[in-house]
Amino acid sequence: MCGIVGYTGPKQAAPILLEGLSKLEYRGYDSAGIAVRDKDKEPVILKAKGRLKMLAEKTNNGEAVPGNCGIGHTRWATHGEPSELNAHPHKSDDLCVVGVHNGIIESYIEIKEKLIRKGYSFQTQTDTETLIKYVDYYYKKYKMGPIDAIAKTMVRIRGSYAVALMFKDYPGEIYVARKESPMIIGVGEDESYIASDVPAILNYTRQVYYIDNMEMARLSGGEVTFYNLNGDVVEKELKEITWDAEAAEKGGYEHFMIKEIHEQPRAIKDTIGSLVNTDTKRINLESIGITEDEVKNINRIHVVACGSAYHAGVVGQYVMEDFARIPVRVELASEFRYRKPILCKGDLVIVVSQSGETADTLAALREAKSQGIKTLAIVNVVGSSIAREADNVFYTLAGPEIAVATTKAYSTQIVAFYLLAAEFGRIRTEITELQYQAYVNEILTIPAKVESILDDKEQMQRLAAILSAQDDIFFLGRGIDYAVCLEGSLKLKEISYIHSEAYAAGELKHGTISLIDKGTPVIAVLTQNSLYEKSVSNIVEVKSRGAYVCGVTYYGSYSLEGTVDQMTYIPKIDDHFAASLSVIPLQLISYYVSLARGLDVDKPRNLAKSVTVE
Ligand code: M6R
Repeated sequence: MCGIVGYTGPKQAAPILLEGLSKLEYRGYDSAGIAVRDKDKEPVILKAKGRLKMLAEKTNNGEAVPGNCGIGHTRWATHGEPSELNAHPHKSDDLCVVGVHNGIIESYIEIKEKLIRKGYSFQTQTDTETLIKYVDYYYKKYKMGPIDAIAKTMVRIRGSYAVALMFKDYPGEIYVARKESPMIIGVGEDESYIASDVPAILNYTRQVYYIDNMEMARLSGGEVTFYNLNGDVVEKELKEITWDAEAAEKGGYEHFMIKEIHEQPRAIKDTIGSLVNTDTKRINLESIGITEDEVKNINRIHVVACGSAYHAGVVGQYVMEDFARIPVRVELASEFRYRKPILCKGDLVIVVSQSGETADTLAALREAKSQGIKTLAIVNVVGSSIAREADNVFYTLAGPEIAVATTKAYSTQIVAFYLLAAEFGRIRTEITELQYQAYVNEILTIPAKVESILDDKEQMQRLAAILSAQDDIFFLGRGIDYAVCLEGSLKLKEISYIHSEAYAAGELKHGTISLIDKGTPVIAVLTQNSLYEKSVSNIVEVKSRGAYVCGVTYYGSYSLEGTVDQMTYIPKIDDHFAASLSVIPLQLISYYVSLARGLDVDKPRNLAKSVTVE
């Protein structure tokens, strides 16, 4: 959940580190620090509590710090409060080893006790200081080289980490190791970079190596050597990043979130285009490597994910069950991984993740694989751990998503489910050819319909102004509308800090309706024709208890005018795909409420974009 960068080469390192960190701030932003070496002088460590700009001010954007080799870190605190002391880099007392770390060292207490017995003392509350001092201990005790000392440490610690280290005796060199936390290594002319994520180095290079789990690397200028735990050299292929650098910038928008909301028509179109031939209007599963025979033999589907990706799975469940008549169970990855899931031959486990690094989702994927179950990942980040470990991958083409609150990744995930559902339904002859064609045609209309909602967003701004003063907001819906409400509610609480709950409308009278009082805001989503009247009854129930009701439904469906307080209309679409449209007003409402409350939209408190710890 933190961001790491590193540079070694002919250029001044500190400005590169700070620029790289600015692209990783979404991963953590409570403190930041850099360690830079000028030739064979000792590293200079500079840190600041708070946003990266504090460190940038302290160092004149890095210009004031000489040296061509350095590492940097932006932190999301796990062990120890956010403070300058706990900020990375951490060091051994004589500066022999200096390092930054992303992840958690689970066994840090026992290691710390051992090191204290050996005469080490600790200044911070972090697990990272323990890790650095453990490497230092082996390095000195056995007078071994950095790679051997790191390997010895790696086999003795428990946890997840991406770590970058500099050794006093090895100027111009950076050593890295990885277990389950993301890290890439970029290479330029006579220079190399490390980063937790691609945007940090996109301005400098597109040539990258993916370091695997339990591997280490040594970077020295443009030379990168990989090692396994035995210290043997591992050969790796250089890969090219195809992302456009501009995609990771705000491009004139005030926030990444609103930019990413506006990128949805393009992201959805690209994701559809990756599987649908727009001339023949047929879906082709070849690119994700699933055969027709495999589809015919699926008995059950388990969708496993966290947060919004889980909500996308809830939408997917409704559509897949309806089209393909395969039983689908959607589960939170943090629950799935620990409940000894019963998986059988013929089951397919679909994991969904934007980052491809979410610790619980990755663990769930591994659990399924360990039981010999076929896995499919719907994932956005190319080369991420989940993408690399799943049997089959369906890449959503959302492009880099920077705002902590996901929007375009969620939208592409639900579209991915529609495509799987329609194709599975066709293959299993659960839908007719005519239905199949009609569904594909409807899916192809989504980008333009999303665009038209975005063209008309002023109404959401007005509504947000009213909602921004509230303490509790409820979301109500049935079926797919309920699935969208889950996402709308998470979006709102995540960035506005307003308490919010999503309820299946039929559940209200089983308890929650007691919370409805005069003026309580309720956002009701009504797109499912077969459930419309039922939902209207629930709206009337809350309205008669004084709720302030805002409805979201299709153009042409005007019967609620006069009953509810505000209506928002979206273009008509086949009900199965309504989530793609109804979620847009909910995203916009959250964005504008957060803005109206003067909050940091892209970097909400206590959160990070990529949850690589459980
Ligand atoms: O990277 P992932 O899709 O695996 O992340 C899962 C959740 O952490 C994520 O969707 C989270 O809920 C979002 N911040 C919600 O906007």
